Amino acid sequence: MTRLNVLPALVFLALGVFTGALFWAPHADRATYLHLMLAVGAMPLIFGAMSHFIPVLTRTREAEAGIALIPMAALAGAALAVAAFALGGLAQGWQSGAGLAMAAALALFVWSRRRRAAMLGKPHACLAWYEAALACLFVALLSIFAAGFWPQHFPALRRLHLHLNTLGFIGLTALGTLAVLLPTAAGRPDAGAALRLRQNLPWAFGGTLLIAAGAAWFAPLAWLGAAAWALALARLGTAWLRLYRAEIFAPHGAAPLLASAAAGFALCLPAGAAAAIGVTLDPARLFIAAFLLPLVSGAASQLLPVWLRPGVQNAWHGDLRRRLGRHNGPRALLYLGGGLAAGWHLEWGLPLSAATLLWFLLQAAASLILVQQGKTS
Ligand code: HEM
Repeated sequence: MTRLNVLPALVFLALGVFTGALFWAPHADRATYLHLMLAVGAMPLIFGAMSHFIPVLTRTREAEAGIALIPMAALAGAALAVAAFALGGLAQGWQSGAGLAMAAALALFVWSRRRRAAMLGKPHACLAWYEAALACLFVALLSIFAAGFWPQHFPALRRLHLHLNTLGFIGLTALGTLAVLLPTAAGRPDAGAALRLRQNLPWAFGGTLLIAAGAAWFAPLAWLGAAAWALALARLGTAWLRLYRAEIFAPHGAAPLLASAAAGFALCLPAGAAAAIGVTLDPARLFIAAFLLPLVSGAASQLLPVWLRPGVQNAWHGDLRRRLGRHNGPRALLYLGGGLAAGWHLEWGLPLSAATLLWFLLQAAASLILVQQGKTS
């Protein structure tokens, strides 16, 4: 099996796990359902997506078949961690899960550096975002590993872990990818994307480190970090509104979801800051419902066709993409509404997000069946 065959399975695994975990959330232990979504659902999919994009960004040959084992190792690590949570928080389970996922992160990082060294010329600026994201994940997992040896530091290491993972691992991967993916979805290149990625990385990466260290040990640093991230997001947002306003506010297509994911991520910064000074908000739920769900649904709308049938693009790909992108405009609003409500502790927030995701999942399944049957839209 080549690596590319694994990606659609990881997309459907993530969408299925997200939907199940969201409906289960009101009755489940918080860390268990959050890790089901973030570690079991999102982490292996991100690894799979990175191993698809790294050869593109380095203009090198397609990934070797063995690279498919990396997302699988991450999935096994995540499953171990969730099992440890479900069994009441077994430190050995956390440590084994973290160790396995760290090995996967390191393997992908080393592979990326090798591809970078083997290529002619310079890689696309997005590659550095992926490497920064993998470094964040590695340190985030190391902090859980370390907490097993220094339980007295658990609260600080937990805060370090959660911020490095959410803003660093998922955030940097997503914002790096979105800078390339939204112009692709809109069908018009963004001539400034590579330069903006290069200029924004120190602010986004530095901002993540400051927020994580600040949340763990010294709060004022976190405010500086949030300001740095806000600057990077403001630059991206202004460019997008100038270039892609029509696609972003359209009723269909991947662009409305991709842009609303970036907006959802931006909202997490003030929500996190407000929660830190005692406002009763839940930034983790906002992160999931207003950022992660539109991100994965939007990316799937654009990328599933090429991941299902890599190679020359034809009418089949266009037809499937059109079907997957149908009604993404209203879906973006529903995700945003559900995310804001969930972040505000309103009971209907997560069920609304879950129902919106289920709608996308069913639409994706129906679209696949119809394009397989050769029905044109
Ligand atoms: C795969 C190995 C992982 C292990 C062993 C692990 C372990 C832990 C542990 C022990 C905690 C503290 C739970 C508590 O407060 O009781 C925690 C919290 C957290 N982790 Fe992980 N984690 C892993 C992966 C991830 C990933 C990949 C993400 C996100 C991308 C993530 C996001 C979080 C978040 C958001 C929290 C805070 C949960 C809350 O608000 O209660 N973790 N993790």
